[in-house]
Amino acid sequence: MKYILVTGGAGFIASHFIEHLLQFPKNFVVAVDNLSMCDEKNILKFTNNSNFVFHKVELTNQHELVQIFEQYKFTRVYHLAANSDISRSFTNPTIDYSNTFNTTWNILELLRIYDVKEFIFASTSAIFGEVGDHIIDESFGPILPISHYGAGKLASEAFISSFAYNYDIDSLIVRFPNVIGEYSTHGVIFDFINKLKDNPNELVVLGNGKQEKSYLYVKDLISAIEYAWKFKTDKIDIFNIGGIDTISVSEIAQIVVDNIGLGSQISYTGGDRGWKGDVPKFSYDIKKILGTKWTPKLNSREAVDLTVKSLIKEIW
Ligand SMILES: NC(=O)c1ccc[n+]([C@@H]2O[C@H](COP(=O)([O-])OP(=O)(O)OC[C@H]3O[C@@H](n4cnc5c(N)ncnc54)[C@H](O)[C@@H]3O)[C@@H](O)[C@H]2O)c1
Repeated sequence: MKYILVTGGAGFIASHFIEHLLQFPKNFVVAVDNLSMCDEKNILKFTNNSNFVFHKVELTNQHELVQIFEQYKFTRVYHLAANSDISRSFTNPTIDYSNTFNTTWNILELLRIYDVKEFIFASTSAIFGEVGDHIIDESFGPILPISHYGAGKLASEAFISSFAYNYDIDSLIVRFPNVIGEYSTHGVIFDFINKLKDNPNELVVLGNGKQEKSYLYVKDLISAIEYAWKFKTDKIDIFNIGGIDTISVSEIAQIVVDNIGLGSQISYTGGDRGWKGDVPKFSYDIKKILGTKWTPKLNSREAVDLTVKSLIKEIW
């Protein structure tokens, strides 16, 4: 049996990942989460699976984590726990110090102490900050994040590098774009549907709606991570994962309004971004991941469309 730890295990992306991992009978998945950004509903479907167990764990508390590492001899750790609400830490930066950075530090320390040799880290395009029209590949620099979240992830990447080198830990850093799909716990589509549920007459969009990014369907992200692991060449390797195209926030707002079908008005608060720390536009060079023969099955519009339909069913 191969014991795999998934942190942030009750969250949106992790719950899809667990579903994928449990397809292989040799995998035993241990999910840990403090349930701060979600509840247990995303993992209820696994509770009857004898190859799955969930523990409520506060990852900033190393003693709680030690109990988990004492109980299972892990082969691999997927570290997905983090603060996922970027705007929230503007008023309280400690959120990203604790939940985005310190969770990584604690996990790395336990990989070292318990001799775990395979580590996959959920990083983000937010580490890059604002880069104008640059197309960002894996060697882009200097890296100057403009959100505490991006900074917490970048600091995590730095320590992953030193731990990989010093303790021989095979490490993969995957820098996600905007990831969407069923069971989302946050993000633009989730927010729009909840806003319209509160007030079906009007959808107030933060910014001018011209923010333009790539949106990747969660199942495409999971296959990209598996390809990246398979084709990883060094002790530590980094992949930028992105879709093949972009979509604007105003187009997403229109898709949501059309699907809800109540003829809601769309209005904009103005300004080029939703909040301080939001990066209105970015574009990845994804040649490296495409070189593994991975290709996303859905483009941004198809991913948005599918997510809107499923979240309306879940939330409305
Ligand atoms: N969704 C995206 O668009 C996106 C983009 C880039 C990177 N990421 C990264 O992917 C990972 C998963 O994101 P997601 O979208 O599924 O978010 P999510 O909020 O659904 O999942 C994160 C989970 O981590 C848990 N968590 C947070 N702090 C914790 C702590 N101190 N102890 C234990 N659990 C804790 C939360 O309760 C939550 O369930 C995160 O690391 C996120 O930064 C996501």
